[in-house]
Amino acid sequence: MAINPPVDATKTEAWAELQSVYDQMQAEGVDLKKWFAEDENRVEQLSFDAGTLHFDLSKNLIKPEMLKVFAQLADEVKLAERTEQMYTGVHINNTEDRAVLHTALRRPAEDEGKYVVDGQDTVKDVRETLERMYAFAEQVRKGEWKGVTGKEIDTVVNIGIGGSDLGPVMAYEALKPFADAGIKARYVSNIDPNDIAEKTRDLDPETTLFVVVSKTFGTLETLTNAREARAWLLEELQASGAIDGSDASKSEAVEKHFVAVSTNLERVAEFGIDPKNAFGFWDWVGGRYSVDSAVGLTLAIVFGPARFEEFLNGFHQIDEYFRNTPFEKNVVVLMGMLNVWYRNFFKVASHAVLPYDQYLHRFPAYLQQLTMESNGKSVRWDGTPVTCETGEIFWGEPGTNGQHAFYQLIHQGTQLIPADFIAFANTPNPLKDGDQDMHELLLGNYFAQTKALAFGKTADEVRAEGTPEDIVPARVFTGNRPTTSIMGVRLDPFALGELIALYEHITFVEGTVWGLDSYDQWGVELGKQLAKEITPAISQDDDALAAQDESTRSLINFYRKVREF
Ligand code: F6P
Repeated sequence: MAINPPVDATKTEAWAELQSVYDQMQAEGVDLKKWFAEDENRVEQLSFDAGTLHFDLSKNLIKPEMLKVFAQLADEVKLAERTEQMYTGVHINNTEDRAVLHTALRRPAEDEGKYVVDGQDTVKDVRETLERMYAFAEQVRKGEWKGVTGKEIDTVVNIGIGGSDLGPVMAYEALKPFADAGIKARYVSNIDPNDIAEKTRDLDPETTLFVVVSKTFGTLETLTNAREARAWLLEELQASGAIDGSDASKSEAVEKHFVAVSTNLERVAEFGIDPKNAFGFWDWVGGRYSVDSAVGLTLAIVFGPARFEEFLNGFHQIDEYFRNTPFEKNVVVLMGMLNVWYRNFFKVASHAVLPYDQYLHRFPAYLQQLTMESNGKSVRWDGTPVTCETGEIFWGEPGTNGQHAFYQLIHQGTQLIPADFIAFANTPNPLKDGDQDMHELLLGNYFAQTKALAFGKTADEVRAEGTPEDIVPARVFTGNRPTTSIMGVRLDPFALGELIALYEHITFVEGTVWGLDSYDQWGVELGKQLAKEITPAISQDDDALAAQDESTRSLINFYRKVREF
């Protein structure tokens, strides 16, 4: 089915209405304190629940009546139609001519037969792969899958990059308290040789399993690291006499210590990994949308199939909520529209995501790929230029660490930085410090920060504290710095699935308003191509060096001069 050209959001009635609301706000002044005082139902009208997550949007620079305008914008850009197209497998990733079906990865088995796309029963295939993955994970967890010398596996090393790394490592870190089989995971991604060197340095090859993850199985970093890992395994096993060095013993070692995850099983076989030890997925799963496919194999091993199922159910919960909730009450849609509001009217450049949960310390990095690889674009899905700013810079660090680093700029800097504050009511580690629960100290900070950002501190309040007059300006907080508070019950696999799906769909909402194909990533290709061309020039090929531009040549010459090997 051909897709229609995007609607130009900037030409819609809702956009004009948002512009006039914005102009009026600028004329009257943005004043959260006043807006709270004038409307006793503000918090109620701007609070939402989706799945197990609770949302407070009241500290954003909007009035409740604007939700209608956000919903109207969603209508006018045909969000419902595009959502249905995505869920049902229309090729909305038109620049790659692919369906976008990450929602099929978390559908229940009852949906088999209902989502047949391009002749494939997507749910059936997903469930079959999951069953294979789970059977393998159980074998490893129970110690039935043995290394070449008969020892049980105690460490799985995921080799992948981008979507084949960021999701799995983020979820591994987030769910560590649920690791119940005594198996640890490590994640190697960078082509910098120090990454794999550090991650393998203290490992026992006899108890290590490598999981090579690459959607294309053609990514330079991953294939290079996988070769390096294979060489390390075989050298170490030979050096200790665990294998005799014959071709047969080497291929048996590779068979026992390497599995792969990819959409390209031929390339997996070419690499030397037995296809029976490979787990597939499909081109309708984007790399940055793939943690809930076989790409999450290390998670299924470390946490077990039951937990992995809970993770999938969390995603599905939000998928259904997003698809079925009217726009005006749909917090996923509203958060996407809030981002548009800030990006296109307030012209903000960045958006902070601040988890008050140390287990989520890789979540901002994960979101950077999800959001910026999806929406960092200047042309729309029909090839025409965008008509407004797109893709904010997403960034963040866990609170409270960030408070002692960059919050100064969020509180008192000259730019507006909308921020999502994420926290969970319960923690698996209720550590006590005397009578004070550290978790409540953390939450105290979580609540305090959004309050300080919203309501600030006036010069009079500063003076009333006895501050000398010349210092007063430096101690004033303007307030009116927007935040969204997200609270969950506990960070478990279900909630993590919900959180990821939330941001996946927010990204989709923004992309739809801007008219983007959020599922391609052509912008990463030029650098890859040039790296291939330049690499020979670095050490020996003088002709290749001569072909470079002056700056690149000068940098390479500096490198050649100072290198010590
Ligand atoms: O270069 C970007 C990218 O294509 C990402 O979109 C992707 O997640 C990553 O590289 C890794 O790709 P692959 O899984 O094919 O190795």
